[in-house]
Amino acid sequence: MGVKYLLLLVGIFQPIFSQNDVNILNRDFFYQNKRDSSSSLRIVGGQDATPHQFPFEVGLYIDYQLKNAFCGGSLISSNYILTAAHCLEGAISLDVILGAQNISDDSESNRQRQVTSAYVIHPDWDSTTYTSDIGLVKLNTPAQINDYVQTITLASGSDSYAGQQGTVLGWGKTYDDQTTVTDILQYVSNPIFSNDECKAQNPSYNGIITDVHLCLSGVGNKGFCQGDSGGPLVVNDVQVGVVSFSYKSCQASMPSVFARVTKFTDWIKENSDIN
Ligand SMILES: *[C@@H]1O[C@H](CO)[C@@H](O)[C@H](O)[C@H]1NC(C)=O
Repeated sequence: MGVKYLLLLVGIFQPIFSQNDVNILNRDFFYQNKRDSSSSLRIVGGQDATPHQFPFEVGLYIDYQLKNAFCGGSLISSNYILTAAHCLEGAISLDVILGAQNISDDSESNRQRQVTSAYVIHPDWDSTTYTSDIGLVKLNTPAQINDYVQTITLASGSDSYAGQQGTVLGWGKTYDDQTTVTDILQYVSNPIFSNDECKAQNPSYNGIITDVHLCLSGVGNKGFCQGDSGGPLVVNDVQVGVVSFSYKSCQASMPSVFARVTKFTDWIKENSDIN
């Protein structure tokens, strides 16, 4: 039986679990349409953030040799952004936007914007198993920390977070057929699953979810979608996950899967300036 997954932003990847079922997206799509978003619909099951509710959220317009894409990220220090490996693989340059609310509005006064090509991908990143989907971007100029641009604390320790409310955010699609990024930053909350609960949701998740993953329930048709990749999952103001992949449809109420931050704390510290 085919396994129906997609990586949220997949242009450069070979088909992974089943060649017929993997939904390969054209990454050009988000970038070319970035000035053309007219949707007033919401993230899958979510709602508009209030201005600067999430001052650590980062927007990334990424150029690759043949394609472009949009991803999320989180500011973890004034010099470093945490995002997904699958966003960074093959990246030539990244246009980094801090302090945004309407990502399509370049005139926002509290924005900070710069281009960088300095990044590092986790050495264990594996696009065939979706393992270690994590990376760091280094800013050329330190971010100015103020009311609109702030860092987020990363989770540490051994808590599984199962049963707690997790909040994921981003400017990604609000429904499967959307053809642009979403202007206003969206967020949605749901309970975090234990990994066993996650695997029980759908046979396709079995054998894929390991201890380096963390799942958010998709109940109520809530979750992330293309364009949210690399963004944070937050519990009580602490980042516990990085948006990685989900079931083929964003509207199937299936769990959203994240890289589990606590499994990568040492690597993040070694490769950034947080301690
Ligand atoms: C976002 O900004 C763009 C560019 O200024 C504008 O056209 C669009 O209407 C704004 N979207 C919303 C939802 O305000």
